[in-house]
Amino acid sequence: MTRQFPTLADIVREAQLNVSPRLWNYIVGGANGELSLEANRAAFAAWEFLPEMFAGITKPDLSTSLLGMPMSMPVFISPFAYDLAMHPRGYREVAEAVAEAGITGFLSESTSSSLEALAPAFGDQRGMVQFALAGPDEHAYAFIDRIQAAGYRGVLLTDVPSSFWRERSLEAGLDLHTHYGAGNYGPGLASDEVHRAHRSFETPRWDWERVEKLVARIDVPWMFKGVLTAQDARRSVDLGADAVYVSNFGARNLDSMPPALARLPLVLDAVAGAVPVLIDSGFRRGTDILKALALGASAVGVGRLGAVALAAGGKAGVTALLELLRSELAAAIGVLGCSSLADLGPQYLSRAEAGGAIWQRTSEGSFLDITTAGPLPLI
Ligand SMILES: Cc1cc2nc3c(=O)[nH]c(=O)nc-3n(C[C@H](O)[C@H](O)[C@H](O)COP(=O)(O)O)c2cc1C
Repeated sequence: MTRQFPTLADIVREAQLNVSPRLWNYIVGGANGELSLEANRAAFAAWEFLPEMFAGITKPDLSTSLLGMPMSMPVFISPFAYDLAMHPRGYREVAEAVAEAGITGFLSESTSSSLEALAPAFGDQRGMVQFALAGPDEHAYAFIDRIQAAGYRGVLLTDVPSSFWRERSLEAGLDLHTHYGAGNYGPGLASDEVHRAHRSFETPRWDWERVEKLVARIDVPWMFKGVLTAQDARRSVDLGADAVYVSNFGARNLDSMPPALARLPLVLDAVAGAVPVLIDSGFRRGTDILKALALGASAVGVGRLGAVALAAGGKAGVTALLELLRSELAAAIGVLGCSSLADLGPQYLSRAEAGGAIWQRTSEGSFLDITTAGPLPLI
């Protein structure tokens, strides 16, 4: 706990004060009618904890490892774009905070600084880079080479939607400066060209044949981010992925996708322990994270919370976020009766009988209420 940010809600409140309503809507908003955004949160209410009495636990140990990297806790910041809009030093602040927290970092390709410039900020922990497969093969191959040459620990491959329909951003007329997220596309490869490739149906979309050829060339650990089906999970493992990353991208790209948490058990079944399973989408609290870990996830990512923490206080904000998540998680694991992550399991969960939506909006409708007391989400 830090004096500036005693709770996660304090971080969220400070961030909202620091950014314009337009940027806030970009960060917290979701796709289309935001049904999935609500569902991502409601999915957590479907699980309740079953603590074990008098388990005789000691201080819970949260340490683990991910793809050979020691992690002080099974939590990471999911990759997010346009970091410079949130803080003048951008993702560098996030990288330094996650390195100090002893966890590995996940970087979006659409950051304001190049991945080469950011690599040292991740320190010994080293980072992983998310990269969307769009545009010509040569572009993708060159990008993978850059990630590997810069010493990153791994690659997250995503499919790319041709366009997003985010009404809040449309309403607000948000026009983020390209340079806020074009640090990887300097002279020689114009950012406009890449963005067009991402957003245009005219550029041929990637298919499995192209994907297979590409992954065969990757020397560092890699995974697909955005797996929600048993089929894609099995395909990942068959193609040699080192992990599977369950996500609906925080409901930002397409509405009416199922909550990632709801798909986790099915993906875990399909993977059958062959590789670690990571997850993000909708996680706001230590207890949310604990539910995914008890179900069998190896690590959990936070996207909006990471972006919000950067906006709230740069490195100090992200450090506070990670400390708070660590404290919440440790407290909850202890109450559950577990001394370490290895003790966790689905026996500590039950399906909620009266589980329901815990997501509410202000009467104005455009902002999510973070001030009302009660079992409300942070964002
Ligand atoms: C502002 C913002 C920008 C994002 N940009 C990217 C991106 O460039 N690439 C990507 O794979 N995911 C991106 N995401 C999605 C996150 O990686 C993550 O999947 C999602 O935010 C998780 O849901 P949560 O926000 O509920 O934690 C972004 C998320 C946010 C909030």
